[in-house]
Amino acid sequence: MKTKYLTQNEIELAAAILREGGLVGIPTETVYGLGANGLDPKAVADIFTAKGRPQDNPLILHIPEAGWLERYCRDIPESAYALAQAFWPGSLTMVLPRQDNVPDVVTAGLDTVGMRCPGHDLCRQIIALAGVPVAAPSGNTSGRPSPTTAQHMLEDMEGKIHAIVDGGACGVGVESTIIDLTCKPPRLLRPGGVTLEQLQEVLGEVAVDAAVTRQMKAGEKPRAPGMAYRHYAPKAPVTVVAGDPEKSAAYIAAHAQRQDGIICFDEYLSRFPAQADAGYVTGVGCVQDKQEQARRIFDTLRAFDHTNVTAIWAQCPDTAGIGLAIANRLNKAAGFHIIEV
Ligand code: TXA
Ligand code: MG
Repeated sequence: MKTKYLTQNEIELAAAILREGGLVGIPTETVYGLGANGLDPKAVADIFTAKGRPQDNPLILHIPEAGWLERYCRDIPESAYALAQAFWPGSLTMVLPRQDNVPDVVTAGLDTVGMRCPGHDLCRQIIALAGVPVAAPSGNTSGRPSPTTAQHMLEDMEGKIHAIVDGGACGVGVESTIIDLTCKPPRLLRPGGVTLEQLQEVLGEVAVDAAVTRQMKAGEKPRAPGMAYRHYAPKAPVTVVAGDPEKSAAYIAAHAQRQDGIICFDEYLSRFPAQADAGYVTGVGCVQDKQEQARRIFDTLRAFDHTNVTAIWAQCPDTAGIGLAIANRLNKAAGFHIIEV
């Protein structure tokens, strides 16, 4: 199929394609999503095919306003309304008990559903025009870094989806935070755009799922099925070096081969002259600017796929604030191959 490239003036067409069962790349503030009518099982099944996604990995339903929550969820706790008030529209997905009108293929058979009202105006307009909740995973081929521009999504999805709406580069750059509200205390399943500290301000105690900070053991199942898979992985193997930035830069400089790729804080760009000669050194933002690091992390990982690097080394921020999400994405890209310095 030929993928239609749509501008922000053509969202009525995007909405019509969605309503009629087609696949549309949609911009969100976190990453681009691969959207389909969330009430149409055939359309949702097509998402899994286009991405090569394992069938046991459920999808998030995107809604244009918090008021739609009651259409698809039941037994909604007060905490969900408090979170919606504080963070919606925005980068937060809530896992709640689902109603029967949500197709099994969306939830991979779970009796819960992930709900999100995105903080991207154009995205909410598309969903509102479509008049249906939009099921959308990140718009990458399964296992690859998530796309934060329409061009990156097309690298993976050209010819596999009916259309893509170009809404510009994503402002947040890592996916939404996922909070499970069906257990006590509420449990963080995936760190993202809304920070753990922000959640704690509204919820009090928040449990952090083990899958956020370490690799799952054989047979161990995380509550968010997607967290079990190696993810965000570029083609070359990644080693994360965590700890004081001065020390991690020194460690990488001492151990990296000439043909290795390096992801570093901007302050350390000049520390790797051999690799810089080959164009293999990429800055991810300044040490203190975690928002910028979040925006650039996936593009940085993706960029190395166009090179011949044989291995990638990455400096990693501390886990305060959105650092938890950045570190989680880097660690997953590395298959949790982490060196602490
Ligand atoms: O920012 C985002 O959340 C992006 C944009 C497009 O909205 N979407 C996204 O979707 O990241 P995806 O499919 O790439 O990741 C969704 C994650 C997966 O790990 C999945 O297992 C988990 O959410 N998930 C979805 N429904 C769930 C449920 N009912 N219970 C537990 N985990 C769930
Ligand atoms: Mg994804």
